[in-house]
Amino acid sequence: MQRIAIVDPTESTRESLRTLLLGIDFVWLEAECARYEYFFEVIQQSMPDVAIVALDANKDRALQMIGQLSVEYPKLPVLTISHDHQALLQSLQKGAKYFLTHPVGLEDMLAALRRIQGENGGPVEVQSGATTSARNTGASSMIAVLGSRGGVGTTTLAVNLAATLAADPTHAAALIDLDLALGDADIALEVNGFENISIADLARNIERLDMNFLRRAMAKHEPTGLAILRHPLEIAEGGIVHEQHVERILNLLKISYTHLVLDLSKCLLPTDLMALRMADIILLVAQLELASLRNVVRLIHSLGGEENLADKVRVVINRLGADSVEEGISLKKAEEVIGKPIFWQVPNDTKPVIGARVAGHPLIKFAPKSRVQQSIHGLAQALYGKPVTAGADGKGSKGGWGFFGKR
Ligand SMILES: Nc1ncnc2c1ncn2[C@@H]1O[C@H](COP(=O)(O)OP(=O)(O)OP(=O)(O)O)[C@@H](O)[C@H]1O
Ligand SMILES: [Mg+2]
Repeated sequence: MQRIAIVDPTESTRESLRTLLLGIDFVWLEAECARYEYFFEVIQQSMPDVAIVALDANKDRALQMIGQLSVEYPKLPVLTISHDHQALLQSLQKGAKYFLTHPVGLEDMLAALRRIQGENGGPVEVQSGATTSARNTGASSMIAVLGSRGGVGTTTLAVNLAATLAADPTHAAALIDLDLALGDADIALEVNGFENISIADLARNIERLDMNFLRRAMAKHEPTGLAILRHPLEIAEGGIVHEQHVERILNLLKISYTHLVLDLSKCLLPTDLMALRMADIILLVAQLELASLRNVVRLIHSLGGEENLADKVRVVINRLGADSVEEGISLKKAEEVIGKPIFWQVPNDTKPVIGARVAGHPLIKFAPKSRVQQSIHGLAQALYGKPVTAGADGKGSKGGWGFFGKR
């Protein structure tokens, strides 16, 4: 993660710069300053990896400040921005090492920041705690959970997989409810005492979205440590959330969390597609019945229209053994129809699943020894190809295999 401090006294250009930076997943906007004369102090306190100085508000003051910075912090890479080439040249003479001509596009900014990172030995370690690894390695992993039809257990699996991942003390996990109109992940995960900020509020304020606001939106389920970003309160608000919002929000969340689990709608909306594109793995939830299996085939075919999407799909059969849903179709037959191995099977286990939902606590807390939780624990292990350390009362099941090479 590259920690950046910016200074630009002109509010409009500062906002655009900040918006641009917030959309870059390896950037952490450490400090933002509106006065050249305060920037030196800001640098002193925040010690960023890169300082970005917009020159146009007052070139003389900006250049003078850059001179001071280069004396005190000769190793700090300074990137200047201006539409005045003369001023950019002067900034280099004063000690800046990089410049971009205003207006700055995302590609130019990305190229400049990567170059800075490459030439300055990469980012420095700044944070401690569970979120460090995601922040500093960018190794955050994203799992999208998609249902093959309504009611197959998408939310149940998303919530409980996320809670199982959260139980590992080396993880920081979050669940994002992208079932924007009819989402109900917050029922299964009762959180109290948090502000009611939903994904619609983030979308509404996307231009001003920063890490503080994002953090306030992430309600925490204290018993498991799982964070949740809720669906919009009002159904009509779902329309406010666009795919670009989802992209920016997920990119920002990747900075703070090691594991993101996304509960998708079944409508394949642009927001769902964005989530599917960004995900590392797509868990496609099905049951052993015709309508669901036929949709698995249709979905895999449809996702195949876009590069990489179908390859990321892992089919999970839920409610295995439920007489009420199964139609005499065997797992073998299902695999033949789908044309892909079934990645995992979760047993039908009504009592703990309903009990956990009513209690508002994930299975790992409500019924850690239940067959369904053991299976979800196994799923987490299989996904990551390694044991997932269970929480105090969640014992793992044996086995599992790494899926990165297996399909
Ligand atoms: N493994 C399971 N064993 C028993 N019951 C289950 C299991 N998984 C899910 N259920 C039950 O199935 C019902 C639907 O589950 P869930 O809400 O998770 O499905 P969904 O696919 O998210 O539905 P929707 O289409 O409304 O989003 C719930 O009543 C839940 O308790
Ligand atoms: Mg659901």
